[in-house]
Amino acid sequence: MTVFELSQMEIFKYSPTEQHAIDFLEGLSFETIKSIGISTAGYFEGYWSGRGKKVVATTLDKKGMEYTKNLLKEVENLTFQIEDVTQSMPEENGTYDVVYSRLCLHYISDIELKKALSECYRILKKSGHIIVIVKSLNDWTAKTEGAYYEPETGYTYTPSIKRYSKISRRLHSIQSITEALSNAGFKVQYSNEFTETIYEDYERTVIEIPDATVIEVYGTKS
Ligand SMILES: C[S@@+](CC[C@H](N)C(=O)[O-])C[C@H]1O[C@@H](n2cnc3c(N)ncnc32)[C@H](O)[C@@H]1O
Repeated sequence: MTVFELSQMEIFKYSPTEQHAIDFLEGLSFETIKSIGISTAGYFEGYWSGRGKKVVATTLDKKGMEYTKNLLKEVENLTFQIEDVTQSMPEENGTYDVVYSRLCLHYISDIELKKALSECYRILKKSGHIIVIVKSLNDWTAKTEGAYYEPETGYTYTPSIKRYSKISRRLHSIQSITEALSNAGFKVQYSNEFTETIYEDYERTVIEIPDATVIEVYGTKS
């Protein structure tokens, strides 16, 4: 099935942050994308591979990857690999035109993010684009009972949310994620913060209430 058909069947749910990233790239000239943390989404990745772009999608989540791989099995130009973003990336310098990562980089600590962004910088071509979407410090989870911030790692711990497999997230402010990109060498051109509906489950059928507060930040390798 195509991404269009999957959207019509509501298997892919509308996401403003995915759509903004698509709209941003629409007018640009590019051929290759690395997507970090694809999991069970795939609209962005399927959209661009369906338009002839070469997309490499990575994740730690084997089960989620197989689910998305199966959904998008008829889409060409899309490859998947299990990869930990905290480790060195296998690609040569200057491989991609675009690096995209939605709701993944808030799983890693500040030190890990520093390394991950320096790898993103390395594998991007000159003038390549980076698009990052992370959860915000203004997210409702940061206000739950017992939630606390750990300055050494940047993590916010949310012990009262029992269904989370990991009780820590690196919730960001616009300033902290912008600084992280700038320190890695990126020129940040755009950032925004707003609420977005996200889902509790793999298949995106159970809406998480309330909506998440997310930050999107776009930069270029200067
Ligand atoms: C909430 S899902 C987001 C999925 C998708 N990008 C989206 O837009 O909905 C988080 C993803 O981040 C991945 N992830 C978490 N830590 C990671 C790491 N250290 N390296 C690579 N992927 C990681 C998970 O495996 C999962 O695929």
